[in-house]
Amino acid sequence: MLLRTASSFSLLNLNANANANANANADHVLPLINSSSSAIRCSRAKSFVPSATKDPVTGVVFEPFEEVKKELDLVPTLPEASLARQKYTHECEAVINEQINVEYNVSYVYHAMFAYFDRDNVALKGLAKFFKESSEEEREHAEKLMEYQNKRGGKVKLQSIVLPFSEFDHEEKGDALYAMELALSLEKLTNEKLLKLHSVASENNDVQLTDFIESEFLGEQVEAIKKISEYVAQLRRVGKGHGVWHFDQMLLHEEGVTA
Ligand SMILES: [Fe+2]
Ligand SMILES: [Fe+2]
Repeated sequence: MLLRTASSFSLLNLNANANANANANADHVLPLINSSSSAIRCSRAKSFVPSATKDPVTGVVFEPFEEVKKELDLVPTLPEASLARQKYTHECEAVINEQINVEYNVSYVYHAMFAYFDRDNVALKGLAKFFKESSEEEREHAEKLMEYQNKRGGKVKLQSIVLPFSEFDHEEKGDALYAMELALSLEKLTNEKLLKLHSVASENNDVQLTDFIESEFLGEQVEAIKKISEYVAQLRRVGKGHGVWHFDQMLLHEEGVTA
């Protein structure tokens, strides 16, 4: 950014020494680099515009080296402080850590479901595959949030994970429907947490964070909720017996579907 600013600055200096055409050039350049920043000063404007032009049209010139001084004073010197951090509040940092924990918890529950459906006396291989891949995907979500935390200069602080169930059979619903309904509830809960994260980012005027959540998480979350809702509806139709085996075979041969 500094380099780009410096190049605009040089261009303006060249123009200052040019002939009357430079006035037109300066008019062209100035709107690109001017801003409403308080650091834009009028006093030096005359030194960067052609000598023939006593009164520049806008009367303002951006002074990058002058303006960057205050940024330079803010560069941290303590080794434990992030150098990249800028306009990233502690509240946003904390809520990202909370979301990492949500994703890990969901990943852990899906992993427990994988282990259950993979048992020799359950042997629903399609459901086992679906929950294994879903567990991995939730961990990837946690990791994506970790990378974002570091990118913004925050610190990842992992929290404890809740002990999941190990049995998923249900007298009325059977295991497949019960597990899928549980998955649907977890995805909706995750969506609520993401929306809370988004609202915290908005309250803190953190446009980059809202953009990250919108582009990387919200769309996918709605897709997952729709997909699992369909699975719940299908499992309610087929009942607990033979139909579950067909449903499981469908999952086994379906590619790239996760919760
Ligand atoms: Fe997720
Ligand atoms: Fe998910």
